Amino acid sequence: MEKARVDKTSHRIRGMFGRVAHRYDLLNRLLSGGSDIVWRRKAIRLLSPRPGERNLDLCSGTGDVALEVFRRSSGETRGVAADFTFEMLALGKRKIERARASIPEVNADALALPFQSASFDSATVAFGVRNFESFERGIREIHRVLKPSGRLAILEFIPEPDSILAPGIRLYTRTVLPRIGAWISGDDHAYQYLPDSVEQWPSPELLGQKLKQVGFVTVRFEVLVLGMAAVHIAERGGER
Ligand SMILES: C[S@@+](CC[C@H](N)C(=O)[O-])C[C@H]1O[C@@H](n2cnc3c(N)ncnc32)[C@H](O)[C@@H]1O
Repeated sequence: MEKARVDKTSHRIRGMFGRVAHRYDLLNRLLSGGSDIVWRRKAIRLLSPRPGERNLDLCSGTGDVALEVFRRSSGETRGVAADFTFEMLALGKRKIERARASIPEVNADALALPFQSASFDSATVAFGVRNFESFERGIREIHRVLKPSGRLAILEFIPEPDSILAPGIRLYTRTVLPRIGAWISGDDHAYQYLPDSVEQWPSPELLGQKLKQVGFVTVRFEVLVLGMAAVHIAERGGER
C-alpha cells in the first residue's frame, strides 16, 4: 500500500496542534488507555534528572513531561518548557500553576532555539521530534544547547509495534484511533496525521544511528510496554 504524504511544514504542524489543543490531554488518556502517563514516567526515570540540573522540555505541549521532571526531582531541577503552539503553551501554563511548579514557558521553534549554547544539563522531547520540519536541524539545535555530557531523552512511537499484539495495535491505530480522534477533537486531519507520521518514522535502531550521526556519542534505547513506543537516551560528548 502506498504511504500517505505527510506535510510537516511548521505552519501546518502549529495550526494542527492549535486546533486540537483543547482536547489534547483527554484524547491522550483515552486513546492510549492511560499508557501515555506510564511512558512519560519511564522516560524521565531513564533520564534520571539530578538536583540543581537545568532541563529543557522541548515540544512541551500541555506540560506533562516538564511537570514529571519537576516531580521526579522533588522540585529540585530548574526546568524550562518550550513549544511553538500558543494554545498548547496556554494550557500548560495553567497546569504548571496548579501544580505550584516554577517552570518558565517559552514560545520557541525547536529548529532555531533562543537559548545559549551549552546552557542545559538535559533535554526531553516526548512525541515531538517526529513533527520537526527538519529532523537534523532540530536535533543539531538540541545538541548545541546541551552542555558537554548533557543527556537527551526522546519518547516516540515505533512504526512497527514490537509485540505479539502488533496486528491488533495496527488495526486500532489505522482505523479506530483516527475516528475517535476526529469525533472528539472536531478535527479530521490531526488524528489521521498521527498514524501516517508514525508509519514513516524510523525504527528505534535507525533513530539511534541518526542521533549518532548528528553528534551524540552514546545512544541507548528501551522499548516500552505494549511495544508501541520507545525511549532513547542520547549523551553529548564531554568536549568543551
Ligand atoms: C504530540 S505533542 C507532544 C506534547 C508533549 N510533549 C506530550 O508529551 O504530550 C507535540 C508538540 O510539539 C510541538 N512542536 C512540534 N514541532 C515543533 C517545533 N518545531 N518547535 C516547537 N514545538 C514544536 C507542537 O506544538 C506540540 O505541542
